[in-house]
Amino acid sequence: MSDLIWSKLQALLDDGLNAVNSASDESVLTALQKKYLGKKGEIQAYMQHMKELSPAERPKLGALVNEARDRLEAKFAEAEVKLQNAKLMADLKLRREDLTLPGRMPVRGAEHILQKTQREIEDIFLSMGFEIAKGPQSEWDYFNFEALNFPADHPARDMQDTLMLENGSLLRTHTSPVQVRTMLNYEPPIRIIAPGTVYRRDDDVTHSPMFHQIEGLHIEKGLNLTHLRGILQLFAQSLFGKDTKIRLRPSFFPFTEPSVEVDIACIFCGQKGCRLCKGCGWIEILGAGMIDPNVLKAGHIDPEIWSGWAFGVGIERVAMLLHGITDIRLFFESDMRFLSQFTK
Ligand code: PHE
Repeated sequence: MSDLIWSKLQALLDDGLNAVNSASDESVLTALQKKYLGKKGEIQAYMQHMKELSPAERPKLGALVNEARDRLEAKFAEAEVKLQNAKLMADLKLRREDLTLPGRMPVRGAEHILQKTQREIEDIFLSMGFEIAKGPQSEWDYFNFEALNFPADHPARDMQDTLMLENGSLLRTHTSPVQVRTMLNYEPPIRIIAPGTVYRRDDDVTHSPMFHQIEGLHIEKGLNLTHLRGILQLFAQSLFGKDTKIRLRPSFFPFTEPSVEVDIACIFCGQKGCRLCKGCGWIEILGAGMIDPNVLKAGHIDPEIWSGWAFGVGIERVAMLLHGITDIRLFFESDMRFLSQFTK
C-alpha cells in the first residue's frame, strides 16, 4: 500500500515540474501555482493519504510532502525569473539605438538683460567706493513720501499715484525711500547705491507698471552740485562711451533742492537730431539733485554740517538706450528670441 502512495507522490512531483518547465507565460504559471500549491491544490489533496498510513509511517510521508512542496516552489521561482528575462530580451530586441545621434546639450541659463545692466551700473559705482543698500518693495507712506518732503496733500504725489496694500503700506514708487532708511541706519559720510524694483500706475511702450531703478546717495561735508555733475559725467562715460557728454536741466523733486534732470548727448545720431532724441540731440537719462535739508533731518543728519546729492536712474531706460530697444514690455515677456540676443 505505502509503495503505491510514494510513487503517486513522485508522479505528482514530476508532472508539476514538467508543467512548470513548459509554462510559456506568467498567466499559465499562476494557474499552475494554484493547481499544485494552492489551498485546494494537488499537494494538499495528496495529504488525504495520511489516513491510509500507520501512525509510524505518517511523519515520513509528511517530510516527503514537504520536500516535494519545496522543490516545486523553487521551480516556480526559477521559472518566474526566466519568464521575466525572456520578456526583457524580447523588448530589447525591438529597440534600435542609433549610436551616431549627436548628444543633447543641456540649456544653459544666463543673466537676464536687466540683471546684466544692473550689474554693469553697480560695477561702475562700486569701483568709485559706493556700497550697495537695499530696502523693501512694500514700503510705508512715511518713507516713500512723507520723509522725502512730500506732505500728504502734495500734488507731486499724483504723478506717482500708486498701488496700496491692505496693511496700509504701498508698493514703493521709487528707490528714494532707501535714502532715509540708510541715513537712519548709518552715520555719515554715506556713499551708497540702492537697486530695486519699483511700481507706478504707468503702462505704455516706454513705461511699465513694474520697473527697476538704481538710487545713488552721497552724504559728506561740503558737497555741491559740481560733485554730482562729476560723478554723473563719469557714470555716463563708463556706460555709453568715453566721449559721452551730459547736461543738467533744472527740474523739480520735493526731496532735492536744487533738482535737475540729466541728459546725455544723443548716442544714436551724434546730436544731429533723430526719432529717439525727438530731434533735439539730447536724451534724458535720470533725475537728481542736492538733498533737501528736510530729508537730511528726517534721516537724523544735521544739514548745517552735512550735505549730499542723490540721483535715481531707470535700469530699463538705460538698457533700452544701450541696446536700441524701443518697447519696454519686451523685457518681461520671457520670449527667448528676444532675451537670448543678450546672453553672449
Ligand atoms: N526718485 C526720483 C524718481 O523716481 C528720481 C530721483 C532720485 C530724483 C534721487 C532726485 C534724486 O523719479
